Amino acid sequence: MNDINFSLGSPPLRPDLQQRLNDFLHFLQIEAEHFLGYPCTRRFDYTPLYPFLGLPMNNVGDPFTESRYHLNSHEYEREVVRYFAGLTHASPDEIWGYVTNGGTEGNMYGIYIARETFPDGLVYYSEATHYSVPKILRMVHARNIMIKSQKNGEIDYQDLAETIRIHRDVPPIIFATIGTTMTGAVDNIDKIKQIMQDNAIPRYYIHCDAALSGMILPFVKHSQPFDFNAGIDSIAISGHKMIGSPIPCGLALARKKHVERIARAIEYVGTLDTTVTGSRNAITPLFLWYAIHTKGTDGFREIIHYCLDMAKYAVKLFHKAGIPAWRNKNSITVVFPKCSDSILDKWQLASQHNIAHIITMPHVETRHIDNLIADIAAARKEEPQACAGTG
Ligand SMILES: Cc1ncc(COP(=O)(O)O)c(C=O)c1O
Repeated sequence: MNDINFSLGSPPLRPDLQQRLNDFLHFLQIEAEHFLGYPCTRRFDYTPLYPFLGLPMNNVGDPFTESRYHLNSHEYEREVVRYFAGLTHASPDEIWGYVTNGGTEGNMYGIYIARETFPDGLVYYSEATHYSVPKILRMVHARNIMIKSQKNGEIDYQDLAETIRIHRDVPPIIFATIGTTMTGAVDNIDKIKQIMQDNAIPRYYIHCDAALSGMILPFVKHSQPFDFNAGIDSIAISGHKMIGSPIPCGLALARKKHVERIARAIEYVGTLDTTVTGSRNAITPLFLWYAIHTKGTDGFREIIHYCLDMAKYAVKLFHKAGIPAWRNKNSITVVFPKCSDSILDKWQLASQHNIAHIITMPHVETRHIDNLIADIAAARKEEPQACAGTG
């Protein structure tokens, strides 16, 4: 038997196809200059890690268990999990976690183990919850009830209390949002726990969807209660949003006692199956690990405060232009009345009903905000009704 004798390198791309790629990159670079509406930073540089892309790495299985698939980055993934456990005040002995494909997978994980903990539990989530959550609830066949939200996007505690009272015989699974998608509102865990106490409900589960604000609140002085200190059971945080990554990623953290309920030993890969997917990204844990070690907690704090200051600046400038913008406490999401499609499109702004928002991620500078508001002001001059929603 001869050794395989084909070239490992690929032949060069056809010149017209190479040109197409070049044009595509140019297009993306231009669009990235007008990227104000979605919570993904473009400020990161993982160039030193690119050699790892040349290997078939895979983090299949439980990062805390030995695996026969040795081309993994479990060691780094564990360190990332421990770092986030520290940020969310988890005791390392009590918490398990892994690096996910993003916030959605982390939420699916939380709902999955909550449903395994309370198979007949009822999931409560607010109107402002991310659109992926009702889909996850359908996928895992979890009984659920949508609760009203307040105007700022926070869950309506009165509606939650009244609904829970009606269903007192069923263990509640609370799906709390820590930074809602459209308005950056934070559901208050202390108030939710008080509702449980008022209704004499001893057994319940709280999952926090902290996709964006899970990387903001640990760095502010007066944070709303949202983490393991506040008594939650699991949390999902996105990695590609505030830390930044060219490949979506995130963290799922949960109390070990819940995870043990779902762990299954899998002989094929010689490890425990505790995660949602089988094959898992081994590069993104390296990205997160690299960011943690190059930026560090002080670096993250500096970045978060920059973003908060930029959000303050944006609100002030909107007001100066006569536009009723606002933001929630500790949020970098600046909400204002929806404007014309051409402005939404140019600045890639998310909108819903009569509002739009910008999110002052680390790449957003004053010049971006100045230019956006100049565009809105010019549109209003031409058409006074433009951007005149209630905000
Ligand atoms: C509150 C909230 N939850 C979940 C998600 C989904 O996260 P991902 O896009 O990382 O899957 C988002 C995305 O913006 C979000 O805003």
